[in-house]
Amino acid sequence: MDSTWGCARFFHLLLPLCLILMINGVEFCYGGITSTYLRDKNLSLDMPLHSDVFSLPAGYNAPQQVHITQGDREGKGVIISWVTPDELGSSTVLYWAEDSKVKNIANSTVVTYKYYDYNSGYIHHCTIENLEYDTKYIYEIGDGSNARRFWFITPPKVGPDVPYTFGLIGDLGQTFDSNKTLTHYELNPAKGQTMLFVGDLSYADCYPNHDNTRWDTWGRFIERNAAYQPWIWTAGNHEIDFVPEIGEYEPFKPYKHRYFVPYRAANSTSPLWYSVKRASAYIIVMSSYSAYGKYTPQYKWLTNELPKVNRSETPWLIVLMHAPMYNSYAHHYMEGETMRVMYESWFVEYKVDVVFSGHVHAYERSERISNIRYNVVNGECTPMSDQSAPVYITIGDGGNQEGLVTEMTEPQPSYSAYREASFGHGTFEIKNKTHAYFSWHRNQDDYAVEADSLWFHNRYWKSSEQLAVASYR
Ligand SMILES: *[C@@H]1O[C@H](CO)[C@@H](O)[C@H](O)[C@H]1NC(C)=O
Ligand SMILES: *[C@@H]1O[C@H](CO)[C@@H](O)[C@H](O)[C@H]1NC(C)=O
Ligand SMILES: *[C@@H]1O[C@H](CO)[C@@H](O)[C@H](O)[C@H]1NC(C)=O
Ligand SMILES: *[C@@H]1O[C@H](CO)[C@@H](O)[C@H](O)[C@H]1NC(C)=O
Ligand SMILES: *[C@@H]1O[C@H](CO)[C@@H](O)[C@H](O)[C@H]1NC(C)=O
Ligand SMILES: *[C@@H]1O[C@H](CO)[C@@H](O)[C@H](O)[C@H]1NC(C)=O
Ligand SMILES: [Fe+2]
Repeated sequence: MDSTWGCARFFHLLLPLCLILMINGVEFCYGGITSTYLRDKNLSLDMPLHSDVFSLPAGYNAPQQVHITQGDREGKGVIISWVTPDELGSSTVLYWAEDSKVKNIANSTVVTYKYYDYNSGYIHHCTIENLEYDTKYIYEIGDGSNARRFWFITPPKVGPDVPYTFGLIGDLGQTFDSNKTLTHYELNPAKGQTMLFVGDLSYADCYPNHDNTRWDTWGRFIERNAAYQPWIWTAGNHEIDFVPEIGEYEPFKPYKHRYFVPYRAANSTSPLWYSVKRASAYIIVMSSYSAYGKYTPQYKWLTNELPKVNRSETPWLIVLMHAPMYNSYAHHYMEGETMRVMYESWFVEYKVDVVFSGHVHAYERSERISNIRYNVVNGECTPMSDQSAPVYITIGDGGNQEGLVTEMTEPQPSYSAYREASFGHGTFEIKNKTHAYFSWHRNQDDYAVEADSLWFHNRYWKSSEQLAVASYR
């Protein structure tokens, strides 16, 4: 079940390496803060199937698992998705601006899939484009008697000084802790407007034969938030669902049928990697579990993508990927290393502000460091302070049934600024083109308590200021 035992073994090979580096006097092994917070170490328990969060909406064939995501490049579009369990039913969306009397109708694409002995319901995906910016829309789905009504607010027009708040959750699952994480996010006074979800959604693959009814329960669980604000999706390893032993050969089959994203608008050829602009942010989503070596489609796409980012239009450059490139926990140690080798120099060159990842079921924030000097010949493998480098934040602590990881590499490496094995969520509050505020909230506290936080100074605009200062000298 847990595909990670292999990396725990690997870690034992690395420990002596760290000692050798210390003996040679390399400053590899002293670092930031390892929180001593005392937490409940009990394994997260799944919420039982009869829990309130999984309850079915009233009425025969009522639309369920309603969720929305961005539907175009700039935030004037939305994709509304839902499932009808018994029959196709109505596939149209009725929608209108809150203050308008004119109601519009949009059609959907409907897909179904089979997975081992599971047959999905009818999965509807309705893309609506050319909405007004910064406007509250009401939408209604269903057939009259089982009709359900929701709403969402479109983002402001893309621009450099547009304040906007993103939420951050990873590795959520469907345990009592998952519910606590989502509840704390909802109650957070920062009021996240869009969720950046860094992968590992339902953990359906942890049940016998990847019991896909757990994809349905998860969809019902998150509806209370995801029907009202877009969740920007990243695929994790628990989305792969590749099980040849039971005849399931198509990677990401359930995920790709259930979670549509606007990848074509980003000229991507796959929903697993894409980008969107939203308010003052440019968000690049990458896939840790698709080919990303040189010449691959993802590589080719990213080669064209990074130079396209116009920091005068979207000052904040954010990258999402499931497996972290910097991680000092023993669990999943160095799993992101190949991705780092491929792309870290680009992230530095293009001054990415922050890279958010999940996968490791804990929290960690890095210093601004890079390890791009290193090549196999020079042996200079110690990450160095680098003001053009992103901050790497691991936030795979949503609360899934695999529990927290607590074992860390010791001592804490100098590139690790803060680490703590607790469940929680984050918010990234963009204030203007130079300042953004990140905070992390552990579940054990009141939802308003920040266990870790950092003011972000935009890399592009900061460096312009620095250049200006330098030119006066
Ligand atoms: C952990 O679980 C045990 C058994 O259910 C319970 O008695 C204990 O209070 C729990 N610990 C915490 C810190 O909640
Ligand atoms: C999940 O959280 C919500 C909101 O706090 C609460 O109403 C609900 O009872 C919780 N459900 C479970 C099963 O914990
Ligand atoms: C929706 O699809 C139906 C059936 O294909 C078609 O008659 C109708 O014109 C479509 N409506 C819109 C708004 O595209
Ligand atoms: C996608 O490619 C087309 C054709 O090359 C180009 O016109 C368009 O600007 C590209 N869109 C994006 C978002 O890069
Ligand atoms: C970048 O964005 C700014 C502000 O929207 C715009 O004036 C400028 O023309 C854009 N630059 C390019 C190369 O598109
Ligand atoms: C940007 O926001 C920060 C933090 O709120 C503030 O201190 C700064 O003055 C703002 N900059 C401008 C130009 O308004
Ligand atoms: Fe993962």
